[in-house]
Amino acid sequence: MTSKLSTRFFGLDLNSPVIAASSSITGNTAQIIKLAEAGAGAVVLKSIFEEEIQHQLNEELNLRADFNNDPEYLDYFDYVIKDENLRKYTKLIGDAKLAANIPIVASINCVTSGEWMSFAQKLQDAGANALELNLYVPGSNQKLGSADNERIYFDTIAKVLDLVSIPVSIKISPYFSDLSSMIVKLSQTGVAGITLFNRYYMPDIDINEEKVISAEVLSDTNDYVLPLRWVGSMAGKTACKLAGTTGIHNGETAVKFLLAGASAVQVASSVYRKGPGFITELNGFIEDWMNEKGYQSIDDFKGKLSMKKLENPTFYERVQFMKHFGEKEF
Ligand SMILES: Cc1cc2nc3c(=O)[nH]c(=O)nc-3n(C[C@H](O)[C@H](O)[C@H](O)COP(=O)(O)O)c2cc1C
Repeated sequence: MTSKLSTRFFGLDLNSPVIAASSSITGNTAQIIKLAEAGAGAVVLKSIFEEEIQHQLNEELNLRADFNNDPEYLDYFDYVIKDENLRKYTKLIGDAKLAANIPIVASINCVTSGEWMSFAQKLQDAGANALELNLYVPGSNQKLGSADNERIYFDTIAKVLDLVSIPVSIKISPYFSDLSSMIVKLSQTGVAGITLFNRYYMPDIDINEEKVISAEVLSDTNDYVLPLRWVGSMAGKTACKLAGTTGIHNGETAVKFLLAGASAVQVASSVYRKGPGFITELNGFIEDWMNEKGYQSIDDFKGKLSMKKLENPTFYERVQFMKHFGEKEF
């Protein structure tokens, strides 16, 4: 079925550009059904986390320290814990596919390009329509240079593309030394889409208790400006489609991303705050705006305000506030 809101992302035809982003909400079949009923173009399942499973494995081994020198035992536990997590995740994919009539995208969080990647094939076999790699190599290891860290991205993508035939997309951070060339090079690897930019856990400090705490988990309404700038700067210059995520809290912002050149937007924080109805709200706003402007399809206006299409692209290039803002008196 095609609708006025039809678009393509994840290498798939979607009935709406509004995607339920990976989060704990999308780790539960009952919620996934509600997101589908609310009109989500696709649901990205909660990521299966390499680090989380490794942590669980280490805890189990600490509890059973007596056996820790026995390689057969270690292998056994490694297998059991990974298998258990994988079994739960493949069941979620199967249940979601049966219950919701929209594309289900499995998500792997990977911090290395190791054995972990072999899981991708199992997620495909479980029925996922596409795969999203939630890629983030923390640049905290001072022994590794940017080229070493960046290689992990390309190695991981190459391994996964080798293992699966379903389309693979990636979601990345803005933390690269040469962001625009990295986005272009990543787009040329064979991925179907790149989502700019993921939001991460951030530490904060409680000055009364004098301890490190978690910063606010959900995004703010103005957080969209960084991904918007980069979607607008890169649209039309990449070998794959782009989507935006972070800070999309209303219909206006969703339309801005489409005008900047995104094929879709991924939302999480506002779904936490407002429930699945937020997706219906965004779809309604986009459609009303299109009707008002006389657009028949998303392609009619997608990228109209990207840097590539603008006669004067300096809005995307400018980084300093300069004179105009500096003159304000306080
Ligand atoms: C509580 C929470 C859990 C999340 N879990 C995941 C996850 O498992 N995998 C992932 O790729 N992104 C995860 N994200 C990131 C979201 O998918 C989304 O890209 C990001 O929050 C930006 O969108 P937003 O501003 O609408 O929240 C999570 C976000 C939140 C708030």
